[in-house]
Formats: sequence, C-alpha cells, structure tokens
Amino acid sequence: MSALIHSSSHDCSVFIRSIGVYKPHKKLTNNDLKKLVDTSDEWIVSRTGIKERRVADRAELTSHMGTKAALQALERAKLSPKDIDLLIVATLTPDMPFPATACFIQHQLGLRTIPAFDIQAACSGFLYGIEVASKMLLSGDYQNALVIGAEKISSILDWEDRSTCILFGDGAGAAVLSKAPQKNQGIIGSILGADGAYAEILHLPAGGTACPPSIESLNKRLHFLKMNGKEVFKKAVNCTYQVSAELLEKYNIHPSQVTHVVPHQANIRIIEVISKRLQIPMNRFLTNLESMGNTSAASIPIALADALEEGKLKNGDLLLLIAFGAGLTWAATLLKWHSI
Ligand code: ACO
Repeated sequence: MSALIHSSSHDCSVFIRSIGVYKPHKKLTNNDLKKLVDTSDEWIVSRTGIKERRVADRAELTSHMGTKAALQALERAKLSPKDIDLLIVATLTPDMPFPATACFIQHQLGLRTIPAFDIQAACSGFLYGIEVASKMLLSGDYQNALVIGAEKISSILDWEDRSTCILFGDGAGAAVLSKAPQKNQGIIGSILGADGAYAEILHLPAGGTACPPSIESLNKRLHFLKMNGKEVFKKAVNCTYQVSAELLEKYNIHPSQVTHVVPHQANIRIIEVISKRLQIPMNRFLTNLESMGNTSAASIPIALADALEEGKLKNGDLLLLIAFGAGLTWAATLLKWHSI
C-alpha cells in the first residue's frame, strides 16, 4: 500500500480509540409490520434488504441510548468520564428541540462541564461529528472526544405510511477519539458536503418556525418524516459515489487498497450500486441493515461496532466510511483502523 498521506500539516493525527453500541431490546420484524400497514416480508426484503429493526420503549429516550453506547465506548477505551473533554451528539431525533441532547448525555455520564453540543446533519451527522471533533483535537486544546450517533426514529415515523415506516430503526453508537500514538495512524481525511436545494425530498415539515405545532399540523400528520423515496435513492447514489471517488483521489488511494467500506445503512440496493460504481466488491462492504434497518446518524458507528465484535476489523485496515442524509448532506471519511 502506498504511504498514507496525513490530512493536515499537524504533526499528529487522531484515531477512533474505541466504539460502543446500544441496541434497544425490542425487535420489529417485517411480519410484525404487516399488522400495521399493507406490506409483505418479500416486498421489504427485495426492495431494501431489511428484515427487522429495533424499536425503543416509550420511556427510552435518544439520550438514554446515547449514554449507554458511550459507557461501553469509554469502558473499551479504558478511560473514565473525567478523561473526556469534548462531547458531540449527532441526531435528528433529539430528546426535545432544546437544550441539546448532548447536554442531557453529559449529565447522565457525569462528565465535567466540557463543551457539549448537537450536530444536525441527519444520516451524515456521525461523520460530520468525526470531522469537527478531529479538527478540535488537532488544535491541541482537547485530548479525548466522545462522538455519539443516537436516534429514536420510531418517534417521528408515520406508522400508517408504508413507504417510510418499514425503513428505519432505533439505536446508538459512540466513538472515543484521541490523539494517535503515531502520526500515520487513524483518520486520514474527510470530505463533507450539502445541497439545500433538495431539502424537501426528505424532511419533517412541522414543529419548527416554518410550521409551529397546531391542531391543523397534527391533523395533517405533518409532525412525521416525509420522503420522496425515488429522488432520495437517485441523489444518495450519486453524491455518495462522487464524494467517495473524490476522497480516494485526493489521498491517492486506489479502490483496491480499501479493506472495508462502511456505508450508511439505508438500503442494500443503494449500497450495491455504489459498490459497482466504485469497483469495490460487495464482500468488502460491512452491512447490518438486515437486522437494524436505517438508524440514521447511528448507523455507521453501530455497523463499526458490529464489525468489531464479529472480528472483521483489524488494526491497520484501511476503511472508507460513507454517508448521505436529509439536507441533503453527504460525507466520506478515510481512516486507518487502530483501536485500543
Ligand atoms: N410494501 C408494499 N408495497 C409498497 C411499500 C411497502 N412497504 N411501499 C411502497 N409500496 C408500493 C408503492 O405504493 C408502489 O405501488 P404502485 O406501483 O402501485 O404505486 C410500489 O410499491 C413501488 O413504490 P416505489 O416507491 O416506486 O418503490 P421503490 O422501488 O422506489 O422503493 C424505497 C421504495 C425502498 C423507499 C426506495 O425508493 C428507497 O430506498 N429510497 C431511498 C430511501 C432512503 O435511503 N432513505 C433514507 C435517507 S437517509 C436519512 O437522512 C433519513
């Protein structure tokens, strides 16, 4: 493999020291969904690759799931809450519009009065968080950051809309980021992007200043996620392919050098098209959407945690993480895996 080029002129790099995960206990299978909407296991599996997803209990909030994932990540990193000096939470399903879910998690974890804030970049949020945390760590002012992707998408789904309620699930993943022991370990670089011209193909219309809550907004079911699936599909394929190709070219890495791709877990057909276009075979893509569905900002850290538990990640592996989401937003990150 050619020498890895570091992302910046800094004389150190940042790595994902550990990953933690939390999955709600309750499983919702495609057959369970048949009791709610007119659908079938065959339709859902053939169009999406999803067989089941996890759904949080009513009392289980996004912050609770994020906290549990973070506790596991801290334990695996052999760090205590006092070692963390930055907390970023990526979510589109916060406990409430404000304060930030990061503040609730900070309190639940017993962290010091460190900076804690949310990032709203939908399904790209975890990679946006990784980029922001990396740059803050490289500044030298912070030592260890927690970046959490946590979602309770079940709370914003219209359970009468078969075109969306079959796709999503709940859960959380958390990463501890630290300065790398050696310069060429860890995160090589990221490219982020967004195009607000396509905001309305995937959005939640009500609850903000555009449409404050009212009897009418409730009656019109505007507090639920709305999606133009076909448009999202096309844009997802194009922007994730382009950002991945651009990132590989930027760091002079041939697709054959990538050990694993960890894509946002939205739809197996989207992943198959990206695999073909990038010319990276499907057996190098790490997927868990069959059992988890699309958990939005949590999907990449949960997929990483699953791969780690299954022994699929080895120190030195070259990983390409790719995401797209509402906004539209997209992101790709290249890293050399090196966990504790
Ligand atoms: N069960 C059975 N039939 C269904 C279902 C269902 N659950 N949902 C839709 N159908 C029907 C439709 O009504 C339609 O019927 P018609 O032909 O009689 O009108 C038919 O199936 C085909 O519907 P399409 O919408 O054309 O189906 P498509 O093949 O496009 O698949 C899907 C739909 C799975 C949503 C696909 O478009 C997709 O995956 N899009 C991308 C979604 C995505 O990635 N979203 C996450 C973005 S990330 C984030 O930020 C949250």
